[in-house]
Amino acid sequence: MIILEDVYYKYDPEGIEALRGVSLQIREGEHLALIGPNGCGKTTLIRHLNALLLPASGKVTVGGCNTNDPTHQADIRSLVGMVFQNPDNQIVGVTVEEDVAFGPENLRLPTVEIKKRVTEALFRVGIPELAYRNIENLSGGEKRLVAIAGVLAVRPRYIALDEPAAFLDPDATKRVLDIIDKLHSEGVGIIHITHNMAEAALTQRIVVMNEGRVYLDGTPREIFGKAGMLQKIGMQLPQITELLIKLKESGFPVRTDIVNMEDALEQIRSLASKFKD
Ligand SMILES: Nc1ncnc2c1ncn2[C@@H]1O[C@H](COP(=O)(O)OP(=O)(O)OP(=O)(O)O)[C@@H](O)[C@H]1O
Ligand SMILES: [Mg+2]
Repeated sequence: MIILEDVYYKYDPEGIEALRGVSLQIREGEHLALIGPNGCGKTTLIRHLNALLLPASGKVTVGGCNTNDPTHQADIRSLVGMVFQNPDNQIVGVTVEEDVAFGPENLRLPTVEIKKRVTEALFRVGIPELAYRNIENLSGGEKRLVAIAGVLAVRPRYIALDEPAAFLDPDATKRVLDIIDKLHSEGVGIIHITHNMAEAALTQRIVVMNEGRVYLDGTPREIFGKAGMLQKIGMQLPQITELLIKLKESGFPVRTDIVNMEDALEQIRSLASKFKD
């Protein structure tokens, strides 16, 4: 369990608070989407999950360890892996293999174990053939997969990903999202920052932040059922939800707390059947 209790954070003593009293519990194995307007504190929040940032006040505990305690920080970083928004900021090796080995090397594991973990991690993200390639020559999507493999090689129990599909084409996006799904099904806790509402709708829980605070927290259906509250802070709805709301406003009897294609189709089919013949 990751527990944040009334966490405040400021980058600059003169500046505004990036986090203003965030309290949140994240269970192991959960797939959570973190959404909210630009600058609301999403990246700042996930950097608190593995002690990259420490709260100015309040407390973050990961697996029972306080992130403020320097003796626990290495353990916490093994428990919570972090995939940054820009994979270039995460690259430490020249070749893919070297890069993915960095985490297990830091754990001072025996060479045989390091090799095993690198091979396993590259297989898990589906890129064993890239092992000996120079990272500089990889595409943005491939670099993202290498970054995820590097995190997996440490075998964390949670992974926080900062907009993992940003700047990727649809194929690369699908590949990354499929891997996230697979990791979730294997029991890894996922904290997934996204600006894409359709992506958020596929998770189990959505936390919406606004101005450094948790604004809403619930299932996708609960969150996107609060269209007015989301629009108030400039957030969009998934297109499917928006379509159903427009149909309802036009007088059609449809439910609007629908976030996935299957349920939307069901609604539209049942509506269409009423107008048949
Ligand atoms: N390194 C930094 N130095 C100073 N202020 C920062 C720094 N990083 C972020 N901030 C400020 O902290 C606040 C929260 O920023 P943060 O990056 O966490 O937001 P975000 O929700 O991730 O935004 P985005 O959707 O644009 O990525 C913003 O006001 C931002 O300007
Ligand atoms: Mg951010």
